[in-house]
Amino acid sequence: MEQWEQVPDQLAEQGWVVCENWLEGPVVFALAEEAQQRWEAGRFRRASIGRGHQEQHQSRVRGDQIDWWHPDQVTVAQQTYLCRLEELRKLLNRYLYLSLVTQEAHYALYPTQTRYQRHLDQFQDAPERTISTVFYLNSDWHAEDGGQLRLHLAEGIQDLLPSWNRLVLFCSADIEHEVLPATRERLSITGWLRRRSALPIPVVHEVV
Ligand code: OGA
Ligand code: MN
Repeated sequence: MEQWEQVPDQLAEQGWVVCENWLEGPVVFALAEEAQQRWEAGRFRRASIGRGHQEQHQSRVRGDQIDWWHPDQVTVAQQTYLCRLEELRKLLNRYLYLSLVTQEAHYALYPTQTRYQRHLDQFQDAPERTISTVFYLNSDWHAEDGGQLRLHLAEGIQDLLPSWNRLVLFCSADIEHEVLPATRERLSITGWLRRRSALPIPVVHEVV
């Protein structure tokens, strides 16, 4: 896609950016079909909120079901997707000095009328998630279908439809967002570009 070069600038300026027609058509079809097959095969699990001992399932807060991509079992379609995001990761490192080192991703399916309440993607105890990436696999999506990704920005609300072949990036630490309920099933790939977790600084005892 041609808007590539503007992505780092826009992300730095406004904290979020939308890329339309992110992938070649056949790749999007392959991802959508794969997600649908995995859903039908029962591979998705109810998503949880929080981490570790705080992890809990609360479908009122978050109603999606997810299927994590495992690095040792990536499919051809997933590989293509991850390769494109790798290019983006390097671009952001080059222009914004972000030190992003890895990615993670999962399929997400929101059954009809489910939502994800307003939240931040960065956990307090896990600051590695730096850029959130959401890619949508829903053809012919219209405003009356609902399911908007709603960004809560200082200047107001920004609603984005989960439209086919659209990639949305935003800063995980700063941008509160939510997923509104939809009248249709809503399918996407959610992921994060991550920086290295901070290593504990060794205490050096000075010898006097
Ligand atoms: C998430 C999320 C947004 C979307 O999974 O954390 O906020 O539009 N997803 O699916
Ligand atoms: Mn989120």
